[in-house]
Amino acid sequence: MRIKNPINPAAALKASITAARAAGALIRRNFHTVKRTKQVTRHDIKLELDVRSQKLIEKALYSAFPSISFLGEESATGDLGAPYRWVVDPIDGTVNYTYGIPHACVSIALQGRAPTPKAADYEDGYQTLVGVIYDPFCDELWTALRGQPARLNGRITRVSSRRQLNDCIISIGFAKTPEHLAQTLPYFNQMVRRVRKIRMMGAAALGLTYVASGRFDAYIERGIRLWDIAAGGLILESAGGEFWHKAIAGEYTYRMIATNGRLRRQLAVPD
Ligand code: IPD
Ligand code: CA
Repeated sequence: MRIKNPINPAAALKASITAARAAGALIRRNFHTVKRTKQVTRHDIKLELDVRSQKLIEKALYSAFPSISFLGEESATGDLGAPYRWVVDPIDGTVNYTYGIPHACVSIALQGRAPTPKAADYEDGYQTLVGVIYDPFCDELWTALRGQPARLNGRITRVSSRRQLNDCIISIGFAKTPEHLAQTLPYFNQMVRRVRKIRMMGAAALGLTYVASGRFDAYIERGIRLWDIAAGGLILESAGGEFWHKAIAGEYTYRMIATNGRLRRQLAVPD
């Protein structure tokens, strides 16, 4: 399908960077304040600041591109089957942030309907065109434009070249539901003996960028959501990595194996 009035990806990247930096500043400014919670469940917390960060991003992106729909973790607006949509996690790593752990980020992706089903990254026919992830605590900004190399703070960044599991640092994410926890624990138990180190950092989007920049060699999670992976998946692929994902039960929910492109078979992730 050819899209009428295509968006200029470079302009979308610029708007995403501006929005991500503004939201990052909000996150950093409020790091030491008492946080107002919106919702607390067994393994998750939602803050009033998640919503504030999303509103700020939505406003900034809307003023640059008023016709693009918006799928955020906190809410969505517009037609989500439209030719383009923003996919945004306004704070990824909210539990870290709430507990005063400075490891969280903002994730913004622009997705467009793929020209052919084969070219789509996601089952609903979309591909990610632009990805921006900003860590306001380390002032690290990862960017990717489809078809171009990934960058970290403006410099080209690449995955690691490690291919032996015993040299590798693997990150395993634990999503929020008891089913996903139960499915992941046996795998964790087995992998922890085979790799140099396992890490659980608590911000999935940063997990993907850490693989993209060769800090981790792989990142695995079951039950991850689209806003956690849309930008990071493109950044990882643009850095030479392999981003495998598959839709599972639940809206915008996936299994994901992200690697440096050399490890997927050895990782033997169960179905
Ligand atoms: C969560 C974090 C966490 C991951 C979860 C995500 P949130 O995102 O990225 O590391 O394990 O699957 O939902 O709630 O902090 O935006
Ligand atoms: Ca979030």
